[in-house]
Amino acid sequence: DKGAYDFFMLKEIDEQPGVIRGLEQTYIAQDGQIEVDDKLMSAMNQADRLYIVAAGTSYNAGLVGKNIFEKLAAVPTEVHIASEFGYNMPLLSEKPFFIFLTQSGETADSREVLAKVNQLGYESLTITNVPNSTLSREATYTMLLNAGPEIAVASTKAYTAQIAAETILAKGLGMLKVTPAAAEFDTAFELTKAANAIQTLVDQKDIVEDLAATHLSTTRNAFYIGRGIDYQTAIEASLKLKEVSYVQTEGFASGELKHGTISLIEENTPVIAIITDQKTAELTRSNEQEVISRGASVINIVSENLAEEDDQIVLPAVHQLLTPLAAIIPAQLLAYYTSKERGYDVDKPRNLAKSVTVE
Ligand code: F6R
Repeated sequence: DKGAYDFFMLKEIDEQPGVIRGLEQTYIAQDGQIEVDDKLMSAMNQADRLYIVAAGTSYNAGLVGKNIFEKLAAVPTEVHIASEFGYNMPLLSEKPFFIFLTQSGETADSREVLAKVNQLGYESLTITNVPNSTLSREATYTMLLNAGPEIAVASTKAYTAQIAAETILAKGLGMLKVTPAAAEFDTAFELTKAANAIQTLVDQKDIVEDLAATHLSTTRNAFYIGRGIDYQTAIEASLKLKEVSYVQTEGFASGELKHGTISLIEENTPVIAIITDQKTAELTRSNEQEVISRGASVINIVSENLAEEDDQIVLPAVHQLLTPLAAIIPAQLLAYYTSKERGYDVDKPRNLAKSVTVE
């Protein structure tokens, strides 16, 4: 039931703080211990490399997860598009462990890979929102997102839930591997902080609605740019905008723009920069100057500690590993309001189905 909402997408965007708190309650004990199946944790601990396999938004959540697994658990992690991996499998490490990210648990491309992984005799985990879904039944282990039904075709709360789930697993694995980064990382504290940041951002929807109206209501194309983790967020941000508003959008590594793509910048081309990492903030800002001098109209989504006077969207402080949880929220809202402003059925974009059961 949509209740007072015009579309499920906005309802699901608003549900995200509660979904993250729910994951904390399910998987983190009072004393901070991670409560995930011991056998799953030991299977992951025996692996020399993690392979995350997924499609679409779930793949984009995997890109963010790679950074979290490598930083907290110090385990090399690869992320693969399911439809590529199935037929062009890379050379696997000696002891691979497979993680399938899938909201629906039914995506055919991912099922195809899992069937091959099972044939090869490797263990796997499916992280999904749907209990008893095919990918859940066919994997060795399941971790449920408990995000509640996601009705809008464009995935929002499953993305942030998947990142939170990856964080919980990475912390558990890092504790088994005794990494200093895991010892220092207070999962419940950091996830709560992220949930609170999301709440603040969804409470400031009006700012984003105005920006959608002024920058995106008539444009044909747009760019999201960022570096490092902000580039991973930019990829998901651009998928959200293009799929519901039909604005052709690319998520780009800021530094790569000048190597060709900058030729697409014209008068008033919207360029949205995500800036959460102090190491690269100045570099991204100088890439922005390059597009501004070619006429781009810029929106900045910037962490509190790095914000400057003209930045339109300021993100409350969260742990550096979890900035995608905050930075994606204004991007989800920009996609929603742009689609609504253009008069589209936000929940049912043309040509798309919620669950893609063909390869
Ligand atoms: C985008 C979107 C799709 C799905 C993709 C995978 O908003 O919803 O890109 O993320 O089809 O679906 P699941 O996660 O169900 O495997």
